[in-house]
Order: sequence, then C-alpha cells, then structure tokens
Amino acid sequence: MTADKIKTVAVLGAGDMGHGIAEVALIAGYKVILRDIKDEFVQKGAKRINESLAKLVKKGKVSEEHFEKIKTELLIPCVDLADAVKTADLVIEVIPEILELKKEIFKQIDQYAPEHAILATNTSSISITDIASATKKPDRVTGLHFFNPVVIMKLVEVIKAEKTSEETMKAGYDFCLKINKIPVRVEKDVPGFLVNRVNAPAHVLRGCTIDQGIATPEEIEAVMRKTGIPMGPFELLDFVGLDVHRHVLLYYAENLHPEYKPYRLLDEKINAGNYGKKTGKGFFDWSNGRPEIDLLKATDKFDPADVTAVQINEALKLVEMGVCKIDDIDKALLNASALKEGPMAAARKIKPVNLAKRLEGLSKKFNKEIFKPVKMIVEGTYR
Ligand SMILES: NC(=O)c1ccc[n+]([C@@H]2O[C@H](COP(=O)([O-])OP(=O)(O)OC[C@H]3O[C@@H](n4cnc5c(N)ncnc54)[C@H](O)[C@@H]3O)[C@@H](O)[C@H]2O)c1
Repeated sequence: MTADKIKTVAVLGAGDMGHGIAEVALIAGYKVILRDIKDEFVQKGAKRINESLAKLVKKGKVSEEHFEKIKTELLIPCVDLADAVKTADLVIEVIPEILELKKEIFKQIDQYAPEHAILATNTSSISITDIASATKKPDRVTGLHFFNPVVIMKLVEVIKAEKTSEETMKAGYDFCLKINKIPVRVEKDVPGFLVNRVNAPAHVLRGCTIDQGIATPEEIEAVMRKTGIPMGPFELLDFVGLDVHRHVLLYYAENLHPEYKPYRLLDEKINAGNYGKKTGKGFFDWSNGRPEIDLLKATDKFDPADVTAVQINEALKLVEMGVCKIDDIDKALLNASALKEGPMAAARKIKPVNLAKRLEGLSKKFNKEIFKPVKMIVEGTYR
C-alpha cells in the first residue's frame, strides 16, 4: 500500500481530535467517513468541522467551491462501524484513551476493513504494539499521532510498532505530507513517543521543586511566561485537566521509571476535586475565564535553563535508543508547540561539560536518576 492509493479515509471518533483529523483530510481532498457511536456525536463533529471550514473560507485558505464539495460529497457521517471502514484505504482510530476499548475496535476494524487498508491509531500514550496485537495484520498498524488543535499544529509523529512494516511507515509518512502536515518518524514504540517524552522529565523537575518548597506553581509559571511563551506549564496542565496529567504520570511511572510518580501537590489538588479548567479550579482559578498570571511573582529559585537541560537530556536518550534522528528533535518540538527555540538549538549554544554539570547537579539535588546526563552529553558528541 502506498499513500498514492489512499482515496478514502475512515476517522473513528468525532471528538476533539477526530473532527480535526477529518477536517485536514477533507481540506486535502480526501473522502472522509466520520464515525462515532451515536448520530448526535457524529453531527456535533461535522458541525465543528463546518464552523472551522467557514472561518478558513473567510480567510481565503479554502475555496467556496471546495467547502461546498466537502459538505455535499466528501464528508460522510456514519454510525455503523462495518459501513465506516469497509471501503477505507486508511482507518484512523481517535476514540478515548482506554486500551481495552482500542483493542476491541481494532479487532472489529480488522474484520471489516479491506485487506490493503492501513490501520492507524492517534493514541497519545498506549503502546501501539499492544493495540496492533488485537489484529491479524499488525504489520499494517501504525501510530499517527496528531497534536491539538489539529488544524493548527503541523506535527504528526509516525510511529513504528514492533511489527509495523516499512511499507506502512512510508505510506503513513507520505499521507501526512499530502494533508500538509510535517511528519516525523518515531522508530520505536516507546512511552511518550517523541514530543511528550522530551517534555516528560520537566514535569518531575517542577513537581519536586514545588514539593520541596523551593518555589510555588505561581512563581514557576511567572518565570516561564517571562521567557516569552504564550502559556506557562501550570496553566497548560489546568487546561488539559489535572486528572489527565496524573494519569499520564502514573503511566510513565509504571512503564518508564518510578520517579515519574505524581508529585504531592498534584495529588492534593485531585483529592480536593480541583481538576483544572473543567472544574473551575486547579493550579489557578478559572471562575472568571483564563487566569491572570502575575509576572511579578517570577523568582530566581527556578531556572528555565534547568528545563531545557532535562529536555535535551531526554531527547538525546531517545537518539541513543534509536527512537529518532537528532535532526528531527527540534523539527518535532517546534511544530507541536509554541516554543521559539528547540532543545537541540539550545544545546548547541551550551558547552557539553557545563550541560553535564548542570544535569549532575539536578540529579544530586533532587535525588533523581532520570536527570543523569546521557553518554552523548558526557562525551560531548551531540554537537
Ligand atoms: N485531546 C488531545 O489533546 C489529544 C492529543 C493527541 C492525541 N489524543 C488522543 O486522541 C484520542 C481521542 O482523544 P480526544 O481528545 O479526541 O477525545 P474525545 O473524548 O474528545 O473524543 C473521543 C470520541 O470518540 C467517541 N467514541 C467512543 N467510543 C467510540 C467507538 N467505539 N467508535 C467511535 N467513536 C467512539 C466518543 O463518543 C467521542 O466523540 C485519544 O486516544 C487521545 O489520547 C488526544
């Protein structure tokens, strides 16, 4: 199967990510079958697509004619799973992040989709190898990991599970190019894949800084906002949901390293029912909309250079493990977030010996093995 042969895409799940993935495929001219478990959910997804497209038409990014074609021809709402996948050349699963649910749907897709179809999952943390094990053709299963909001974020991680074939990887990669995304190959199915994995140790760093009483979330938020980013780490966590964040940390603690276990303040917030934006309160108060960040609270007790150091370290860990190419790290990070400079560009401005010292210092200060500098930093071979 090659990307050229993909004509029809089935998107399973019409929620936050599914409707966005369907939209970018529609804009690129694909026929898209959008499936959810209830007609009202499919209609809601279709409505979100139409609203977004109407804005793009206004901005001159999509033509009136193409919008009309999408509405009348290309977008096909569907509730029956067999009907949704039976003519698909590519199936993208975008249902909730629950392993058993994903395995069940892949078992069914395997039964109803054509032999040649590529089966992709947009999971953000579940092992794709586990999902693929529910099918008889794991060589045709891959991860296509989009970022939120899909219409804006350019990156797609194309992930190779244990049995994914090179043909499937290439077709997935080329399809992403055709829908105007920037794909990056992730050669191993590791926890967090690339972008989330590079960002993972910074959660631990901030968590132990808070739990040890060195700085508060408000102080860290102010420091980070002063670096020029549009949203700091704690506002972002409130936005995503502290329950979702905790779930991810537990997953990393189990599958990556026990040091990822949720920090004390996070548990306290969850126990008090403060899940972030959706409950009105998390690290910040959301009752009057987006919280005001008091930049005067910025403190020198938290150094943003430490965040960059642990990101570089984790990124190079992935390179050493053969998960990704060194040149793809900044490409991935810059196209999945509002970062102004990628970790590797930052790394090239720092002497390896100083970077190693900083990481050794963090590892000792917080008693964390995950901050220890990797070989490429110790030996200075990453530059
Ligand atoms: N939200 C994000 O920022 C983000 C980013 C990257 C990846 N992801 C991943 O994308 C997936 C979906 O996340 P989301 O945020 O869009 O969730 P969501 O809850 O907004 O949407 C999920 C949709 O799937 C539907 N659904 C449930 N069971 C189904 C089934 N059997 N068949 C078809 N549809 C079904 C639900 O009704 C819902 O509409 C998850 O695996 C998540 O980890 C999410």
